[in-house]
Amino acid sequence: MKIVCIGAGYVGGPTMAMIAYKCPEIQVVVVDINQARIDAWNQLDGCELPIYEPGLEEVVQAARGRNLFFSSDTHKHVAEGDIIFVSVNTPTKTRGVGAGKAADLTYWEGAARMIASVSTTSKIVVEKSTVPVKTAEAIEKVLRRNCADPNVQFEILSNPEFLAEGTAIEDLTVPDRVLIGGKETESGQRALAVLKSVYQHWVPDERILCTNLWSAELSKLTANAMLAQRISSVNTISALCEATGADVQQVAHSIGTDSRIGPKFLNASVGFGGSCFQKDILNLVYICEGVGLKQVADYWQSVVSINDYQKQRFVERIIEAMFNTISGKKIAVLGFAFKKDTGDTRETPAIDVCKGLTQDGAKLVIYDPKVTEAQIHQDLATPKFEWDHPQSSGTKSPRSSAITVVEDAYEACEGAHGITILTEWDEFKKLDFEKIYASMMKPAFVFDGRNILDHAKLREIGYIVYALGKPL
Ligand code: NAD
Ligand code: UGA
Repeated sequence: MKIVCIGAGYVGGPTMAMIAYKCPEIQVVVVDINQARIDAWNQLDGCELPIYEPGLEEVVQAARGRNLFFSSDTHKHVAEGDIIFVSVNTPTKTRGVGAGKAADLTYWEGAARMIASVSTTSKIVVEKSTVPVKTAEAIEKVLRRNCADPNVQFEILSNPEFLAEGTAIEDLTVPDRVLIGGKETESGQRALAVLKSVYQHWVPDERILCTNLWSAELSKLTANAMLAQRISSVNTISALCEATGADVQQVAHSIGTDSRIGPKFLNASVGFGGSCFQKDILNLVYICEGVGLKQVADYWQSVVSINDYQKQRFVERIIEAMFNTISGKKIAVLGFAFKKDTGDTRETPAIDVCKGLTQDGAKLVIYDPKVTEAQIHQDLATPKFEWDHPQSSGTKSPRSSAITVVEDAYEACEGAHGITILTEWDEFKKLDFEKIYASMMKPAFVFDGRNILDHAKLREIGYIVYALGKPL
């Protein structure tokens, strides 16, 4: 059996590496049109892979060259494949009908047309990308009507991915569940059984859920919407805590011990980020509007609106705390990635917070252990939603002189009026805050957007500390 995955990104790379690692008798080839990305996946020992993910290097090294390959020869490998995963990006549309909400399926449709054009044997085509419900129907039409050989059959499956960045290898090794949706026809069920047999190499049967196509597609959007909704819910409570003297961490713990609520995903934060939560909810909103469910659309839209409110609220709190003026003041930004243990900055809340602070005249000195200077400047110069549209990002704004990126947290804080924590990197908890205090302007402020620091200790040192959802 030969598996080919189109798209060597955050999902395609790690998921295929895991399949190859667990199924030595299956040949797995990951293809991408981005040559630089393929070259990076093929780097020899000691060089960094294109994405940072704990444990990924070991898995890739164990399988690469054995039964795992990365290539830009998309046509050859897709033509030879029995199962074709499609794991391309599905960003939010930036123009035209549905701009700012609907999923842009340009890359998906391009991949489907390519599969159809090179196929001379029948294939199982697997939706790995997160797509709107009913996408399989559209893709099937594209595949069937663009393939010259009438004997070639395509069977479409939906197999959405639930891994989270930073824990991708753990999530893939011991998934809560693997979800496979297929047509309720004989050939659909046969295809489903083939894909199931791949996962059965390491995932127990009871964790492999099989549904129809539309349920699988919609389950993925719903899972992300529900997760994001929990964060927005606790973030609204963080605002109420600040107004009343309650402590959001105590509230979260108290409610999380109720087994019906559960303790996970209740950390108040400066806002959720990442490439998917906002995109997938907006997509859900668009679908609901499309079928006339306005109230349902409004409900899910509010999850994104609250997230924007939380980021804005954080910026306003900083400005207010620093005597209503941050113009010309130096603020150290610790953390830029959208969460710890990843170098990914897609839709990171740091972008909106940094833009908000510079709009008010602040000078920012940014440090993140995994994000490069070039990436930070690019993110802060790119308009909303444009980051995942390479063809439209030709006109880059110049680098802002208000932004400096450094490679050390102490350097970032030197001479600063305030420190903001925007990513919960463990190394920030271990910083010598007495040393930092001595090097800062006074009064020295700390704005902990992740509630990871020891606030009592910081106050003992002399800092004025603002924590999310906590009394001053
Ligand atoms: P990504 O941008 O990291 O990777 C997508 C890759 O597809 C890119 O390298 C791009 O060059 C390539 N590509 C696009 N069109 C192509 C084509 N026609 N032929 C060959 N290669 C092509 O995206 P990602 O984060 O891996 O996400 C992929 C999908 O998975 C999205 O739909 C996303 O919503 C979903 N998803 C992402 C995550 C995550 O943690 N990032 C988790 C679950 C699901
Ligand atoms: C999320 C989901 O957790 C995955 O199941 C899903 O596959 C993936 O989206 C996707 O479809 O892309 P990811 O975005 O990688 O994974 O990371 P999360 O751990 O979910 O964190 C998302 C954001 O929420 C981060 O900015 C994080 O800091 C924030 N967050 C998370 C909070 O603010 N509070 C929390 O309690 C948890």
